[in-house]
This record gives sequence, structure tokens and C-alpha cells, in this order.
Amino acid sequence: MTYDFSFYMPVNVIGGNNTLQKNKNIFSELGKKCLIVTGSTSAKKSGALNDLIEIFNELNIEYAIFDKITENPLTATCYEGGVMAREFGADFVVGIGGGSPLDASKAVCVYATNPHIVNDGIYTEKVKNKPLPLAVIGTTSGTGSEVSGVSVLTRENGRKQSVSGKNYYAKYAFADAKYTYSVPFYTTVSTALDALAHAIESAFSPRGDFLTQQFALISVKMIYPILEKLSKSNELPSTDDRDALYFASLYAGFALNKGGTGFPHGMGYALTEDFNVPHGLACAVFIPEYLREAEKSKPQLHKAFFDAMGTTPEELEKIVTQFCDFDFTISQEKINEYEIRWENLKNFKNSPTGFNNKDAARLMADLFAK
Ligand SMILES: [Fe+2]
Repeated sequence: MTYDFSFYMPVNVIGGNNTLQKNKNIFSELGKKCLIVTGSTSAKKSGALNDLIEIFNELNIEYAIFDKITENPLTATCYEGGVMAREFGADFVVGIGGGSPLDASKAVCVYATNPHIVNDGIYTEKVKNKPLPLAVIGTTSGTGSEVSGVSVLTRENGRKQSVSGKNYYAKYAFADAKYTYSVPFYTTVSTALDALAHAIESAFSPRGDFLTQQFALISVKMIYPILEKLSKSNELPSTDDRDALYFASLYAGFALNKGGTGFPHGMGYALTEDFNVPHGLACAVFIPEYLREAEKSKPQLHKAFFDAMGTTPEELEKIVTQFCDFDFTISQEKINEYEIRWENLKNFKNSPTGFNNKDAARLMADLFAK
């Protein structure tokens, strides 16, 4: 085993019960005017929006709310948020939500200070001016967006694509698991699978290193037994399990921040775009195959993962298949289209054993062309 590693993660993560209230002075340091970026419901349902507004009222911070972020946020919507931040004169942005609002809030900060960047221009134009400072409050246990420098957006042509780098890190992440307590069962499962996929994909990625693997092992050890419980009953997790899932999703985020995602995420985007499959389920369906590939390149690490999870490849596959019980098939014609589109997909290069677009097309046909 090699202990070589490097790690860059500039987010100040402040976790624990009532972390917002306890650390409210940070908001005064960030400025006098804030744009809050959220989706339409989860920020309110989780209680995070209310808590934040109370603090802003106490501190005389003026705020406006941009709550148009949907799942798989469009670049055009984020651009609209950026224009709103600029016109409002926001000193900083707070993103509240699961992966979509958090990823969108990162883009809003970039658009706000870079008027030359419009919609899909975020993928090609240089970020000339420093983005607005961003604080994020997570409300689901999956994304890891709180601690990664990645924003996954949807292009004008409907395709998901990420943008990443030093301009896409939050300055602060407030991590209070209580904001995840109201997440419904199905979303809890999907987001937990997303976090599991982040941990596994990044640990075996060519960019992953010793530290990435350690973060990932901690994460899967916490997530898997809870997923097992969820597979056996339709009951919502206990608060202890909710807390564990949230902190496991942050550890998976640390791993993701270094290792990045492999072919399950690359292929999963297609299931979300074309068949509306929730992100976590869309990636998880490819995890058993990813682990088979991973075993070929890193058998010891593969064993360490199953030891940490306390399960076998067969059991893991059974649980994934149970959750990913999709009711659609995919035509060979569509799979051929994917094969062409995936010719240079960076997630494939970031997978073990040289997985390529032909392997992906074969896997897609095995799973979906019945
Ligand atoms: Fe993900």
C-alpha cells in the first residue's frame, strides 16, 4: 500500500447541532446583502430557510430569495440567478438544498460577477472576476457538493455537464444533519446510493489516492448497513441513521473532491436526461459492474471495501437491483447513439481498467435492452 496523497479542499466546513445559530457572526463578515438560492420546497420544509431568515433579521442583513432551481438545473436558470444577484447588489450568496440548488448556487456566484458569461458560456468562457463568496447549507445526504469544487448543470441542449475548479468551491459549508430529517423515503434511498457511488467511484479512480480511499472507506462503512435496513423495510431512518448518512455523504464528498466520478456517473446522466431516473439510482445501477472492473485493477482495495461494508458483491448487487427496479427498456438504436456520444467521455478515462464507450454500450444493452 502506498501512503502518497495530496488534498486540496478550501471549504470551511462547520458541522454540528444548530451550527447556523452558533456561527451566525460569519454572515456579518460576509456582508450586508445576500441572495439566497434554493429550490421551491426543500429549503422551507427542512427548516433551514426559516433559521437563516431569523438570523438575517437579527443581524440586519438584507436578503432576496431566488427559488427557481429545479432538479438538474439549467445553465439559463442559474444565469438568471446571477443577474438577480448582480441587480440586487448581493455581497454574498447562500445556497440551501440538495445537490441541484447547491450546484446552482456555485454557478450563480460565477455569473453574478462575470457579466460576459451567459448560459452555456460557463463551460467555455474564462472566469475573469472572482465569484461572489458562497455559504452552503445541505439538506440531503448524497451530493457532497458542500465540499467539492464541482457544479453539475444542464446545457441548453438538455445534456448534463459539470464545470469545476477553484471558482466552484463554497467558502463555508454549514453541516447540520437535522435539515435532512424531513427527506422522504425514496429520496433518502436515492441520495444514499449517490453518496455510496461517490465513495466507490472516487476510491478506484486513477485520480484517487491513499487519503481518497480512506475517506471513501469510512463513508461506505456508515452508509451500507443503513441501506441494508432501508431495503428490508419502508420505514424512514432513525435520527441516528440520518446523522450517519449525512456525515457519510460529506466523507464521500471529500473522496469525490479528489478522485472524481467514473463511468456510473457518466452513464447515469443519460438515464436521468432521457428516462427521468433520480440521479442516485441512475448511477447506482452501474456500481456492481464498476466494482467488477475495480477488482481487476485493485483486488486488495476491492476486498477492503466489502470488508468495510460487511457484505459480498452478490448481496450488494441484490440490494442495488431491488432499488433500481426501472420499468423501461432502451432500444439498440438509442444505445448506438450513446456509444457515439460517449466517445471521449471524461468519466470513462476516470474509471479503472480502461473502460470505453464500447464497453458502456454493451453494459447498457445488458441491463436495459430486453
Ligand atoms: Fe452524484
